[in-house]
Amino acid sequence: MKVLLVNGSPHEKGCTYTALAEIATTLESEGIETQIFWLGIKPLSGCIACKTCAKIGKCVFNDKVNEFLAIANNFDGYIFGSPVHWAAASGAITSFMDRIFYAANCSGQKIFYLKPAAAIVSARRAGTTAAFDQLNKYFTLMQMPIIASQYWNMVHGAKPEDVKKDLEGLQTMRTLARNMAFYLRCKEAGLKAGVPLPTQEVGIYTNFIRD
Ligand SMILES: Cc1cc2nc3c(=O)[nH]c(=O)nc-3n(C[C@H](O)[C@H](O)[C@H](O)COP(=O)(O)O)c2cc1C
Repeated sequence: MKVLLVNGSPHEKGCTYTALAEIATTLESEGIETQIFWLGIKPLSGCIACKTCAKIGKCVFNDKVNEFLAIANNFDGYIFGSPVHWAAASGAITSFMDRIFYAANCSGQKIFYLKPAAAIVSARRAGTTAAFDQLNKYFTLMQMPIIASQYWNMVHGAKPEDVKKDLEGLQTMRTLARNMAFYLRCKEAGLKAGVPLPTQEVGIYTNFIRD
């Protein structure tokens, strides 16, 4: 089994990475393969709502979004990590998640269906729970079970050395990783034992207009 960890920070090896690396090491010790996917520092456009993705199954902009979509189906679970920027998730990961999930949704691809996900955030001081709430909203619309930990998934620091001193934050990352590994094993065992996937209805799309 494999988990893909997204680093939504402009720092390749910064605080967010330090938290993701703690998760990756713990997952590996649980026998789960990992890969860290860094968004880089090139500007990532927001969604332009052209809906080309519904026809071509990927984004009209060929950047980190399509790079991710091309490999995402090879993974069984996902962790999305972001620094807190202005008490929210980073602009880059917001654009990225808007576009990957819109492309998957509009094109009807089942890349993420019932695959577990979690968000983690990294801040110097404040805005963590707002950013955490923001990121979790993608998963609940995409039918992705959210894996929980012993506290809200956050670490504190302005540099990686600070994060390494945030012992509770790092423990929260390790607990999250072990809970993710447990869920993945349960899902695998359930499917092997013949537990059927839930019945799915044809989607209803009303825009709140009822007549
Ligand atoms: C544009 C910008 C906005 C930021 N806003 C906040 C904030 O609202 N609250 C906070 O605690 N830290 C804020 N920070 C600091 C970072 O969130 C914090 O240092 C984080 O741990 C850096 O993670 P990284 O090394 O992975 O980029 C901000 C940093 C930047 C660059």
